[in-house]
Amino acid sequence: MLGLPLWSGAEEPFGAGLDARVAAHSDGKAAFSFNRESYRGDLSQLPIGVFDSGIGGLTVLEAILTLDAFHNDDLKPGADGRPDFEDERFLYLGDQANMPYGNYAKAGRTDYLRELILKDALFLLGNRYFDGRDWSGPRFDKPPVKAIVIACNTATAYGLDDIKAAVKRWDVPVIVVGVVEAGARGLLETESTGAIAVMATVGTCDSGVYPRTIQSTLGRAGRGVVTITQQGSADLAAVIEGDPSRSQSVPEQVAGDVRRLVETHRAAHPDGSAKPLETIVLGCTHFPLVKSEIDVAFATLRRDPAFAPWIAEQRRYVDPAEWTARQLFRELALAKRRRGPGAPSPVAEDRFFLSVVNPVRSNVKLNPDGSLHDDYKYGRDPGHLVEDTVIVPMTRTILPESGRRLVSEKLPAVWSRLPDR
Ligand code: DGL
Repeated sequence: MLGLPLWSGAEEPFGAGLDARVAAHSDGKAAFSFNRESYRGDLSQLPIGVFDSGIGGLTVLEAILTLDAFHNDDLKPGADGRPDFEDERFLYLGDQANMPYGNYAKAGRTDYLRELILKDALFLLGNRYFDGRDWSGPRFDKPPVKAIVIACNTATAYGLDDIKAAVKRWDVPVIVVGVVEAGARGLLETESTGAIAVMATVGTCDSGVYPRTIQSTLGRAGRGVVTITQQGSADLAAVIEGDPSRSQSVPEQVAGDVRRLVETHRAAHPDGSAKPLETIVLGCTHFPLVKSEIDVAFATLRRDPAFAPWIAEQRRYVDPAEWTARQLFRELALAKRRRGPGAPSPVAEDRFFLSVVNPVRSNVKLNPDGSLHDDYKYGRDPGHLVEDTVIVPMTRTILPESGRRLVSEKLPAVWSRLPDR
């Protein structure tokens, strides 16, 4: 049984309802709980958990799986021809049924989003899932994780601090890494003197997390205040996924988003005093997949004299995924939690999970394709802890056609590990 929560009583932490659930079900048998006993002893053999609002975070997993920025034997920086995480196992969760996370803030449901994010973390810590065929009860053979990578910019913006605080209260020694801090650190490696553009979801931009984190990261490194312009897109992630409800092509959507970004930059500095946009932070999981289309859009817009002064001739791109992979490596090494070659693991292979609408729940308003209707999705309040969505194994077969194409064509390391059925 967990001890009493660690807050003094002056102010309840966010997620107090989940704390009570975790304390009441320390065997991890109930939804939104985990088995306390899993976190005793050496954790290095456990897999690394990675989660996102959907399949976009697989871009971050691809970056982790393919990173070769360190010598595996002595941890020195530099490539050694071996993937840095070659001995690790991974466990991925995509909360596909509740996405897009980027639109909860606009719908005034930030607190519900924060609860969803804590539930994602609890899933990774626990053993419980459904097999997607037998709905009579959950299974409990999923291993817990030794680290949580928040592979979603929006979830990092709204949930990183909550997860860090919650794992402290739950007394779980997991490493927690989010894409935003890592991406901001990536900026330290660029020589750019121009302005910084952040392209992200509307939710991530509303949170202000990137400007805040970039300024503090660069400030700590003595780099002074930089000019940052951000622009949220409510549609680009969905268009990249091939969402049938969107009619625009990727180049059309990208052209519109880039134009709005540059217009925002120009409007903030109408006298031309601002430096042109030079470093572009791809602050959404999906955007690195269309980096070349984004650069074409900037180049095209720059040919128009009305925009040219606000766009640098050469743009540099920061993909937070790669920097997240580096930060994860460093933190595992620091905590001496890397898995040794050939070490026994509770999981032989990587495992992938996805949320789906709970087929045995009524009172859930659905779209004709069986997904959650927006009225229901954005009408929920935190604190009820109902299982309106459940988590099942993700396979090549279960992925929607557009997602399957995206992963098979653009993320080969992930695709090769994803089971067929
Ligand atoms: N994964 C989200 C992000 O990186 C984009 C998709 C969503 O809005 O859920 O912000």
